[in-house]
Amino acid sequence: MTSPPNRPIRLGVTGTDTGIGKTVVSCALAARARQLGLRVAAMKPIESGVVEHRVPERGLSSDADRLRAACGSTLPMSVVRPYVLEEPLAPMIAAARTGVQIDIAVLDAALALVEQDADVVLVEGAGGLLVPIDLRVSYLDLFARWQLPLLLVAGNKLGVLNHVLLTVRAAETAGVPVRAIVLTSLSDRDATVAETTNFDALVTLLPHYTILRFPWVDRPDDLDILAAAAEGGGLDVLLSPSSP
Ligand SMILES: Nc1ncnc2c1ncn2[C@@H]1O[C@H](COP(=O)(O)OP(=O)(O)OP(=O)(O)O)[C@@H](O)[C@H]1O
Ligand SMILES: [Mg+2]
Repeated sequence: MTSPPNRPIRLGVTGTDTGIGKTVVSCALAARARQLGLRVAAMKPIESGVVEHRVPERGLSSDADRLRAACGSTLPMSVVRPYVLEEPLAPMIAAARTGVQIDIAVLDAALALVEQDADVVLVEGAGGLLVPIDLRVSYLDLFARWQLPLLLVAGNKLGVLNHVLLTVRAAETAGVPVRAIVLTSLSDRDATVAETTNFDALVTLLPHYTILRFPWVDRPDDLDILAAAAEGGGLDVLLSPSSP
């Protein structure tokens, strides 16, 4: 069993795009960490595209619900997800259109609660790294403020090399370390040439980075299946303190 780290392992989970598996990979990592005896907490600071208190269609729950369940968390939703916005838009736009001002101090206070008594802390962004929270603050700024190393979830398709390189360059420029890049499968159909060559290309292009893979899973709502996928993809490396 992995012994609990002295200081929590903290990751800002970002992606090459929206809908490419950030929540699935985060839940998988959380489920795997719990299997290893670690206490995990997760947060989705701002979630848009969710109507609170409405029963979701087709059993699809919000990111915050999925993260909270994967962590076995008892934290209130107001802490796990301080801001919830109805329209499925970037937070800056969704908030402005409904007259909400995102207060970073509210997010700071929630993070402090999330971090209490946790060995592993996951903070999921929205969409990609430069998505605006307001005119001045992007997710990159938020992760930099909180000194969160990044877990970059990269959807495996044509175009991902460019999106990964852009994201890594933006993070480097801001002085935010990229802890790992996880190339995720986006379907179970036969892979295209791009999809079969992207992993090796990333390893060649970014030789100093940790690059992992995450498979397509039949049941992304099954925590045992997610944990097994995380283990199989080598994500355990993220659950040990990284070398400085
Ligand atoms: N590896 C996978 N195996 C099975 N289904 C997946 C996988 N990755 C993503 N999906 C499915 O694709 C959809 C989008 O995934 P997910 O919600 O994790 O994306 P996201 O990057 O977190 O999106 P957002 O930007 O909205 O937060 C979900 O319905 C999810 O179940
Ligand atoms: Mg998500």
